[in-house]
Amino acid sequence: MSKALIAPSVLSADFACLGDEIKSVEAGGADWIHVDVMDGHFVPNLTLGPVIVQSIRPVTRLPLDCHLMVSEPEKWVEPFAKAGADVITVHAEATPHLDRLLRQIRELGCKAGVSLNPASSVSLIEEVLDLVDLVLVMSVNPGFGGQKFIESTVAKVEKLVQLQKKHSFLVEIDGGVSVKNIGILARAGVNVFVAGSSVFSAKDRAKAIQDLRAEILREARR
Ligand code: DX5
Ligand code: ZN
Repeated sequence: MSKALIAPSVLSADFACLGDEIKSVEAGGADWIHVDVMDGHFVPNLTLGPVIVQSIRPVTRLPLDCHLMVSEPEKWVEPFAKAGADVITVHAEATPHLDRLLRQIRELGCKAGVSLNPASSVSLIEEVLDLVDLVLVMSVNPGFGGQKFIESTVAKVEKLVQLQKKHSFLVEIDGGVSVKNIGILARAGVNVFVAGSSVFSAKDRAKAIQDLRAEILREARR
């Protein structure tokens, strides 16, 4: 089985004590910290900017997986790289110059990710697959935590897994991931599982992460 990473999304954390929230999931066995950046323009919600990434950078040793749900992402990759992002993912729908932007992310020393909304086809990014370290499949319409998983996105994961034979990128799934569907997603070949509400709404974060991992392992043993 390919490696499986769990990336709790701080969107569902308590922002009044964000540092402690991040420490709780690191201690609970998380692999990455997923940071959802929203601009109130590309998506109908507003979250955080580079200053927050800068303040959480010293709190954890885990990679910061910054998911930019913003218009004109070219304005923001450098500030997020400087703030300490490890992975910067931009939406294919948000820029007319994806090739240039992905190269720029790598030049800044970060891993480059590209994301597709549920309505976007894999064909939108096929030409840039050699420029990315990660493809993030949105399994909800971006903007909010706690939404229902869109089942048809599993087929998109399967298409990308086929393309992994010719390119070197991880497949990440984001939105509505829980113990109920993580097994199916693992079977489809997902490498990185973003989990917001399913981890942060649990009192015991370690148990929530363990439960997700147990489902992935169960699938691997089938
Ligand atoms: C949605 C964000 C997700 C979100 C996932 O726009 O990109 O990362 O936080 O939250 P859950 O796991 O609750 O769907
Ligand atoms: Zn996200």
